[in-house]
Amino acid sequence: MSKTSVCIVGSGNWGSAIAKIVGVNAKNLPQYEDRVTMYVFEEMIEGKKLTEIINTTHENVKYLPGHKLPENIVAVPDVVEAAKDADILIFVIPHQFIKGLGAQLVGKIRPTAIGLSLIKGFDIAEGGGIELISKIITKHLQIPCAVLMGANLANEVAEEKFCETTIGVKDKKMAPILRDLFQTPNFRVVVSDDVDAVEICGALKNIVACGAGFTDGLGLGDNTKAAVIRLGLMEMIKFVDVFYPGSKLSTFFESCGVADLITTCYGGRNRKCSEAFVKTGKSIVELEKEMLNGQKLQGPITAAEVNHMLKTRNMEDKFPLFTAIHKICVGEIKPAQMIDCIRNHPEHMQTFN
Ligand SMILES: NC(=O)c1ccc[n+]([C@@H]2O[C@H](COP(=O)([O-])OP(=O)(O)OC[C@H]3O[C@@H](n4cnc5c(N)ncnc54)[C@H](O)[C@@H]3O)[C@@H](O)[C@H]2O)c1
Repeated sequence: MSKTSVCIVGSGNWGSAIAKIVGVNAKNLPQYEDRVTMYVFEEMIEGKKLTEIINTTHENVKYLPGHKLPENIVAVPDVVEAAKDADILIFVIPHQFIKGLGAQLVGKIRPTAIGLSLIKGFDIAEGGGIELISKIITKHLQIPCAVLMGANLANEVAEEKFCETTIGVKDKKMAPILRDLFQTPNFRVVVSDDVDAVEICGALKNIVACGAGFTDGLGLGDNTKAAVIRLGLMEMIKFVDVFYPGSKLSTFFESCGVADLITTCYGGRNRKCSEAFVKTGKSIVELEKEMLNGQKLQGPITAAEVNHMLKTRNMEDKFPLFTAIHKICVGEIKPAQMIDCIRNHPEHMQTFN
């Protein structure tokens, strides 16, 4: 039987961390091709191409410095060249770039390939809704697309600290193939067939992380932050219930749900920049440039996409936390007004929950 070949489309902080795992598993497991290609958006680092640096030093010095990538990870600057022979395409780029890259790949990949999206975020759909990134991949490339989401801060995964993750996949045959590619003693995979909810959790938690960061910036303390996290979780559940009915409540208790929400609200870059937003008064765009060294923030864009959808449907008041966070990010209200916006949250108006 021919071996399964893998391409990682993306090489940022998470893309590089996941390349450490996938590279080792592809090399050690007989069912996968050893050589794993990694599409790298080319940039010059001190006069040298990033792809050349990766292929000679086996380190992504810009996005994951201090970690060696396995030598079977091969950096390729042309996405078509990287992806053309792959059976599994792992998409791990900031969500704003997926349509552009997807367009380049149309008709250039194996028709039998399958996708796996590690991308957290949405896109705006025609008619005022949102579109899931996995659905965009399927629509443009005509391949099925699973998702992997979880409490997985990239640097901690790269340091091989224990964590869990959730793979959302419908096709039962694909479940063990994907699990084996990622599972390690310190990266434990749980597979779910509730694919949409897994993906939506991964996108929405970045909005809540901005709220947690505002709370930190305002010095409001741990009780307030816990309230923001809890109300955020309730709005995540409601969002899935209203717009993707039929999903399972238990999915929110997987790594992709409450665990990712907690880690992001304490450790992630959206929290960090949102705290600085309050403390410095600088714009989100300025802070992203100053604090993240080329990494991208997902929370404020996702908040805008969700708000666009809620506004179109006249539902902003049903999701007061998401709405307040968006309005703070775009400067419509002051961070201190977030609590005013959630004081009368629908959650507080019920006699019994
Ligand atoms: N970093 C984490 O801890 C983490 C964990 C889980 C999921 N994610 C998700 O993974 C996805 C990728 O994030 P990341 O952390 O790997 O990236 P990143 O934010 O660290 O890096 C940005 C990446 O975008 C690339 N890029 C810049 N301009 C581009 C363009 N025009 N076209 C294509 N690529 C371009 C850069 O080369 C770089 O590889 C995001 O959706 C993120 O939410 C990240």
